[in-house]
Amino acid sequence: MNSLAGKRIVLGVSGGIAAYKAVEVCRRLMDAGAYVIPVLTKGATRFVGRATFDALASERTQMSLFDEDDPIPHTTLGQTADCVVVAPATARVIGAYAAGISSDLLTATLIATRAPVVVCPAMHTEMWEHPAVAGNIATLVERGVHIVGPESGRLAGGDEGAGRLSSPDDIVAGVTRVLGAGSGLRDMAGLSVVVTAGGTREPIDPVRYIGNHSSGKQGYAFAEEAAGRGAEVTIVSTVDRPGPSGATVVRVDTAEEMAAATMAAAADADVVVMAAAVADFRPTDPAGVKLKKRDGVPAIQLEPTPDILAALGASKPQGQVLIGFAAETCDVADNAAAKLNGKGADYIVANDVTAENAGFAHDTNEVLVLASDGRAHSIGLRSKRQVAQAVLDLVVADRDGRADVR
Ligand code: CTP
Repeated sequence: MNSLAGKRIVLGVSGGIAAYKAVEVCRRLMDAGAYVIPVLTKGATRFVGRATFDALASERTQMSLFDEDDPIPHTTLGQTADCVVVAPATARVIGAYAAGISSDLLTATLIATRAPVVVCPAMHTEMWEHPAVAGNIATLVERGVHIVGPESGRLAGGDEGAGRLSSPDDIVAGVTRVLGAGSGLRDMAGLSVVVTAGGTREPIDPVRYIGNHSSGKQGYAFAEEAAGRGAEVTIVSTVDRPGPSGATVVRVDTAEEMAAATMAAAADADVVVMAAAVADFRPTDPAGVKLKKRDGVPAIQLEPTPDILAALGASKPQGQVLIGFAAETCDVADNAAAKLNGKGADYIVANDVTAENAGFAHDTNEVLVLASDGRAHSIGLRSKRQVAQAVLDLVVADRDGRADVR
């Protein structure tokens, strides 16, 4: 398969034990038809020899900012690349890139390029979770850098945890997607997707309401990703924001209105993404006129709203994929598992809304995805669009393997 045919890819390799896996990444990029130029840091050569990359890649490995033939190799590399991939990316390289420090050929190339950049972090869990690294990743994501991984699993020294380099397959799939060359890019064509977005508003009187902090960003990211992959999208939204081109937006305010619009749209949908933060309670008897201060502090009686996700789960047509969310402040995995089982969803996308750079109003998110067949996937900090992409990747892969889908 030559999905990357003719693409000029700078493969940056920095100094971590996972550098040996970069050999396989290089090979797979070559197999996919790419023109690969390896750039190794000095640290990388402690783990893997440049001769290995020389033998596999399209050009000899480069390491120095000072080349005899080219006085400015970093700008030549940066300007001519279609994509720069860093695998593995150490905490040092991520930090230098985020801070704009160019101390070697790889970091100088990263700063000199306007091409898309794919960073594949690999390090020990303590380092990956350090606030400095998390902050640097958030900075890169905000600047449009694509982050692939890391995965959780076995690490150097026998430790277990988050920080393992993504598999070469996942890295090449990420590069392929970033370059828009993936065969899977229209992999939701013909599917109808309903997404709810934003937080509901439950009136107290004509001017006041009970609401929540949901911005709708994660829901819109799902809508945009699904539409980009060819799906026909309906967004049931509390937010005044246009959807992606071709999408239908149904504007609602209350849980009751969202329930009616979502149940109607979901009847024929292949995928339903219940990303909205729906109020659980509403004033039983909202006042018809503004409550006046002079009348004293009002006692507001509340009643439950309809649980839309549970209703969707109970009436789910065969083959429909139902995705719920869990906004948690503690015990994320346990609470999410309870919601998965209790509401009849196929997936629950759970996040700790108190975590830094994740949850309400942020452009980034970090989630745990639980599937009804017992699998769990943790999706590390990345843009909300990339979270949507990763979740829809799971949905598409599962649909392909299911007999009951329409
Ligand atoms: N949800 C819903 N209708 C409601 C409340 C929630 O459809 N009335 C959906 C949300 O859209 C989300 C999932 O249920 O997909 C979980 O929402 P969340 O607020 O995390 O959980 P709750 O069910 O409200 O439970 P709790 O407040 O106890 O955490």
